[in-house]
Amino acid sequence: MPATVIVGAQWGDEGKGKIVDLLAQGSDLVCRYQGGPNAGHTVVVGGETYKIRQIPTGLIAGKRCAIGAGCVVDPAVLIAELDELEARGHRTRGLLFVSGNAHLVMPWHVALDGARERRLGNLQIGTTRRGIGPAYADKVTRIGIRVQDLLDPKILRQKLELAVAEKNVWLQRVYEHDPFDVEEVVSTQLRLAERLAPYVEDTSLLVDAALRAGERVLFEGAQGTLLDLDHGTYPFVTSSSPIAAGAAVSFGIGPNRIDEVLGVAKAYVTRVGEGPFPSEIVGPEHARVQALGQEFGTVTGRERRCGWLDLVALRFAVRVNGITSLALTKLDVLSEFSDLPVCVRYRLPSGTETADFPAHQSDFHHCRPVFEVLPGWATPIEHELPRAAKGYVSFVEDALGVPVTLVGTGAAREHVLALG
Ligand code: IMP
Repeated sequence: MPATVIVGAQWGDEGKGKIVDLLAQGSDLVCRYQGGPNAGHTVVVGGETYKIRQIPTGLIAGKRCAIGAGCVVDPAVLIAELDELEARGHRTRGLLFVSGNAHLVMPWHVALDGARERRLGNLQIGTTRRGIGPAYADKVTRIGIRVQDLLDPKILRQKLELAVAEKNVWLQRVYEHDPFDVEEVVSTQLRLAERLAPYVEDTSLLVDAALRAGERVLFEGAQGTLLDLDHGTYPFVTSSSPIAAGAAVSFGIGPNRIDEVLGVAKAYVTRVGEGPFPSEIVGPEHARVQALGQEFGTVTGRERRCGWLDLVALRFAVRVNGITSLALTKLDVLSEFSDLPVCVRYRLPSGTETADFPAHQSDFHHCRPVFEVLPGWATPIEHELPRAAKGYVSFVEDALGVPVTLVGTGAAREHVLALG
C-alpha cells in the first residue's frame, strides 16, 4: 500500500521498531511523525542490536527517512545517533530529512521536566525526563525554537538568549535549579546547528512528491494510543499525538492520503510510568512475564508494568486510529503459560460491565477487569502457530473485527510470522 501508518495500539513499547524495520524493507520513505528522544526503539539486525530514540528506524534499513513537524528534536541526541550509525557503516547524509518546523528540545526543557516531576512527588507522571512536555509546551505557547532557526546563526543566538533569560528565572526561582550560561548554550547550539543544517528539508513537499510518484511511504508512530495527549489516559500521557491522524498533521498531507493503518500490540500489555492499568497482573506471574518479555525500558531502563491482553483498550485503539490490520508482537512470551487470561470487559464502579473504553477518567481509574481465560499452548513457537496460539489470535480478531496479519515470535527481524 502506498501510504501506511504504523501505530502503537497500547501504552507504547509494543515492538513497533521491529515491525517498522520489517516493513521498511519494502518502503521508499519512512517518516517519524511525533515525539522525540522519549521513544526507544530496539531493532535487531544480523545479530546486531540498535537502540535508537530520535531517528526513524528506517535509516537502519538504508531507506530515505523524514522527521515531521509534529516531532521535537534534541539536536545533541540526534547528532550522537547519526554519529553512531555512521560509525557502524550506515549512510545518513542524503537519506535523512528533518522538517524545519519541528521544535527543538533544549537543555532547559530536560532540566524543567526533571524538576517538575520531582516537585510533583507522588503525583508525578513518570515521564522519561527527556524534556518532551516542556518542549511541546513552548511550541503551543508559541515561544519555541524550531529546527529552521538553526539555519540562521543570528536568529538562533537571539532566540537562545531570550529563552535562557526566561527559563533561568523559572529554574532558579521556582525549582531552585542552577541557571544556564547563555554563552555556553549559544556556542554548543551553534556547533550542533552546523551539523544539522544539511538535514533540514520541507518534509511536506517531500512526502507529497513521494506519494505522487507512487512510492511506498511508511509513517512510524512512537509511544502509543493510550499515551495520546487528546485521547489517551490523561494526565498520564505524552505531549504529542501518537494516534494515526497525527501522521497527516505532522507531515502536512491530507488524511485521505493514508491508505492503511497497521496497529501494533503486544500479545499482553505493558506500561511504564504512572497511571491506571486495569489488566495489570498481580502475583508471581507478573515477574515471570516481565522476565520472559525482558520488560525494561529502552530509554530509561525502568521496569515496565505487565498486564494480560486488554481487548477493551485494544478495541478503543482500533476505533481512534482506524486500524485496518494488527501486528501481535511477543506471542512467544506467552508460550510458558498454560492459562491465558484476556480482559474482555471492564466492570465499572456502578456495577455495569462495558466492552467500550470508558470516556470518563473516574470510570477508568476505578474499573475492574473481567477476564476470560483462554488455553495456553505451553510449547515454543517455531515456524507455525500451535493450535491454541491460533485460537488466541482468532479470539482477538473476532473481538476486534480486524485481521491479525503479523505475529512476533522473537526479537530478531526474521522472527515474525505472516498470517493469512
Ligand atoms: P514523556 O513522553 O517523557 O513526557 O512521558 C509521558 C508518559 O509517556 C510517561 O508515562 C512515559 O513513561 C510515557 N512514555 C513516553 N515515551 C514512551 C515510550 O517510548 N514507551 C512507553 N512509554 C513512554
